[in-house]
Amino acid sequence: MKVKQYRTHVVAETADLAAHTAVTLSGWVHRRRDLGSLVFIDLRDRSGIVQLVFDAERGTPADVLNLAGSLRNEYVITVSGTVEPRDPAAVNPKIATGRIEVVVAGLEILNAAKTPPFFIQDNLDVEEPLRLKYRYLDLRRPSMQRMLQIRHQVGKVFRDYLDKHGFLEVETPVLTRSTPEGARDYLVPSRVHPGEFYALPQSPQLFKQLLMVSGVERYFQFARCFRDEDLRADRQPEFTQLDIEQSFIPLPEFQAMMEEMMQLAFREVLGVDIPTPFRRMPYREAMERYGSDKPDLRYGLPLVDVSGEVAETEFRVFREALANGGVVKAICAPGCAGYSRKQVDELVQFVQPYGLKGLASIAVQGDECKSSIAKFFTSEQLRALAASAGANDGDLVLIAAADRKTVNAALGALRQQLARALDLIPEGTFEFVWITDFPLLSYDEEQGRFVAEHHPFTMPRVEDLPLLDSNPGAVRAQAYDLVLNGFELGGGSMRIYQRDVQEKMFSVLGFSREQAYEQFGYLLDAFEYGTPPHGGIAFGIDRLVMIMGNGKSLRDCIAFPKTSSGTDLLMDAPAPVTQEQLDTLHLILRKTEPSAPLV
Ligand code: AMO
Repeated sequence: MKVKQYRTHVVAETADLAAHTAVTLSGWVHRRRDLGSLVFIDLRDRSGIVQLVFDAERGTPADVLNLAGSLRNEYVITVSGTVEPRDPAAVNPKIATGRIEVVVAGLEILNAAKTPPFFIQDNLDVEEPLRLKYRYLDLRRPSMQRMLQIRHQVGKVFRDYLDKHGFLEVETPVLTRSTPEGARDYLVPSRVHPGEFYALPQSPQLFKQLLMVSGVERYFQFARCFRDEDLRADRQPEFTQLDIEQSFIPLPEFQAMMEEMMQLAFREVLGVDIPTPFRRMPYREAMERYGSDKPDLRYGLPLVDVSGEVAETEFRVFREALANGGVVKAICAPGCAGYSRKQVDELVQFVQPYGLKGLASIAVQGDECKSSIAKFFTSEQLRALAASAGANDGDLVLIAAADRKTVNAALGALRQQLARALDLIPEGTFEFVWITDFPLLSYDEEQGRFVAEHHPFTMPRVEDLPLLDSNPGAVRAQAYDLVLNGFELGGGSMRIYQRDVQEKMFSVLGFSREQAYEQFGYLLDAFEYGTPPHGGIAFGIDRLVMIMGNGKSLRDCIAFPKTSSGTDLLMDAPAPVTQEQLDTLHLILRKTEPSAPLV
């Protein structure tokens, strides 16, 4: 039997073929122009688009021309013909194959297609739910194909790099045990053990540490993680980490290796050179200067503490904030001195959800300063205040007073908003920064106890260990985040590897000895069998691909993502299951009609 030949080339390869080369191509009808005796079809495959010409005068048989007339968008076809140069006037510089066309002699329709619910093209103006419902069509669009490609390439660069450096890829369970701390778990009921549940892992953290006890020394895994948390543009309920752990390595060496790996990915995938070493910024500086532990350093707009300058003021809002141990901080909006009252009010409305009641403003216009607080300051004082915030002629200074946390959060958000509104974010730039010196713990008012900033397995700074008893809030962690363009790309730490330190940590977190042993006994036990010093990191692959591919949300770089309410619109999940399935799993559902009163 003769084997059918679908293609001699992929579409993109036709660009470089000599005139009159015979080709067979397969793909989808992207666009068509039917002029009767002349039919143009743009044929699309994964590699690109090429123009097919069906023309009786150039030798297309009548039956083939006739069949071409029946083609519609997204039909799947195989054609045979010859590559011919286009007339200079007909060259299309927008596509890679734009200098040639394929004059068709044979056509086979492999499959017809219904009219798709949206055009298969970039810059699409359709609602996202429709794109997600028909994701298999959405993924045909070139920009989506590019994302899949970037994702594949990034993964390959990382795998090759880690392999070359002696890391072993080890898989860890997806059905595991629920642990406290962190986000909410996704639970899976056990059929065999009535009333008991597996949890899907939020990360392979404990497994990778146990692998260090096992002597693996250098581990990595592309690990799917599951977290039942409130979703945002940069959060999915299931996402992929590049999870890495290593024994016997000092932190600076480990960070240098991770930098080299990132640098390689940007060079190989985007052709962009990222300088190393990456910047390093203590957590405190990030919070004070940028109002965020993941500062976007593609632009300036720092927050400036002007508490000293206004210490003597009569202005009640500033005075009270300072008297209560708070802070007065300013941010300079370049070129915004001419903002109308309404425009300034909009900025005030923007910061209000962050807990600020208002913003004072100083507009620098030549020698004059127009200000909402002019009553309380001389014009020299206003000018000095504006200057200390970095303002020049034509700039607008916005000033906030409240407790430190509120001011930083509000002005940090305002900083990002101004950068977007004033178009200050340079496209195609990548600013990496390691955030270091995180506090080990933070006090959770609601729970009335300390919680781990990263996770309970993070090693405190050795010199801070005594503070675990006397002042836990002051203990610094040996932890680091890698931040890129305002996104937390990865987080990691050196780990606790001694049983007594780990037990101490659990006790500071409010676990009794019994609770700690009940939850983490296997880890505490393992630490007694010769555990090497170790540490590692996990990178959010979805976030990295989103940034590299200039996507707007994580949904743009995951083949089959979930909506912000955690649903899969293509498969229609989650969905009810049968009573029989529930019975098998020993589950009884409580009635949850929306109208039923919540008890
Ligand atoms: P962490 O919780 O910081 O650390 O996660 C590491 C990285 O994973 C990404 N990430 C997410 N991406 C998409 N959607 C989410 N819901 C989501 N949550 C996290 C982020 C983040 O920086 N076991 C530790 C790592 C370690 O200590 O080695 C951990 O999971 O990019």
